[in-house]
Amino acid sequence: MDTTNFIRMMPKIELHAHLNGSLCTKSIEELCEELYGVNSNEKVLLSKELVFDGGNLDQCFLKFRFMHELTATKKGLQLATELAIRDFAKDNVIYLELRTTPKKNSEMSKEEYVKNVLEAIERTMKIESIHVSLLLSIDRSKSVAEAEETVNIALQLKNTYKDIISGIDFSGNPKLGNFMHFIPVLEKARKNDLKLALHCAEIHNPAEIDQMIKFGMERCGHGTFLSELQLNEIYRRNIAIECCLTSNVKCSTVKCYDDHHFKHIFNDKKAPVILCTDDCGVFDTTLSNEFVLAKNTFNLTKNDLLQLSLNAVEFAFVHEHFKHDLKQRIRHYFKIQTEPESKN
Ligand code: IMP
Ligand code: ZN
Repeated sequence: MDTTNFIRMMPKIELHAHLNGSLCTKSIEELCEELYGVNSNEKVLLSKELVFDGGNLDQCFLKFRFMHELTATKKGLQLATELAIRDFAKDNVIYLELRTTPKKNSEMSKEEYVKNVLEAIERTMKIESIHVSLLLSIDRSKSVAEAEETVNIALQLKNTYKDIISGIDFSGNPKLGNFMHFIPVLEKARKNDLKLALHCAEIHNPAEIDQMIKFGMERCGHGTFLSELQLNEIYRRNIAIECCLTSNVKCSTVKCYDDHHFKHIFNDKKAPVILCTDDCGVFDTTLSNEFVLAKNTFNLTKNDLLQLSLNAVEFAFVHEHFKHDLKQRIRHYFKIQTEPESKN
């Protein structure tokens, strides 16, 4: 089997995927047809609205508005959730952590938004071979009161959906909002057993990065602008770094794939690294594609691919027995696929 197929068939773990950024073009077309009954030409035009060809972070954030319109109804939101999960399952993702920012509109409250996503997750897990957890996202460009509401909803629904709701994500435009203001809310989440995945060091902001590392987190989203000292601290605190190659290059926070911080952090064992897509719809990628890119750009061996997969399991927001099961499935795949070969 060639490497690309090996990677496509490989059981994969996706830990950093924003719901409204994670619909592939075909699924957006299906969603548009279901919601608006549009003809095929219009569908193609609509689906292209979401894809981001490249530019800066601000331009990228504008892209989400299109998807937010499509998921502003119960029907749209549930279908989008189903389609996004189906796309990951098709790519042989066996465990997925989706994250989304609860949104209020004329049709639903924030709590109803989350319940709709949860219902769709439960329904889709019965059909597809994939386990899905949900992180609720705090949008840093919004108020602390909104962030507190998000954490309260997670805590309220955690008992009913204890195997699905697993943590809190801190995201949104990194140029906006002040991290320090959100500390009490994030502390509340942590005290109540919600795990934390924070977008950290997505842009160059050393003071904020120090504050975030000091506060602590289980996983650091992006970690692009970490200094050596900060990386040492990340390592000491056993924080994993979620690397999103295509996302960073298309948003121009990293110049090119060769220059991606993945290389230094993974090769020099600076911290545990996990490969993720971020927004596979917006960036027109898949997790398989990210693995192929990483393999080709950084000359990774099959052992490296195994290590990356096991890192993802280790830092997933799930119980130890489930981690054990996931690791076994991954190891089994590598064993049967690589047995005839002596190395790599
Ligand atoms: P949603 O939370 O399901 O609506 O997913 C889209 C949202 O995720 C965006 O509006 C942003 O708030 C957030 N997001 C997606 N990609 C990024 C990123 O690269 N950095 C920070 N926030 C992001
Ligand atoms: Zn992200």
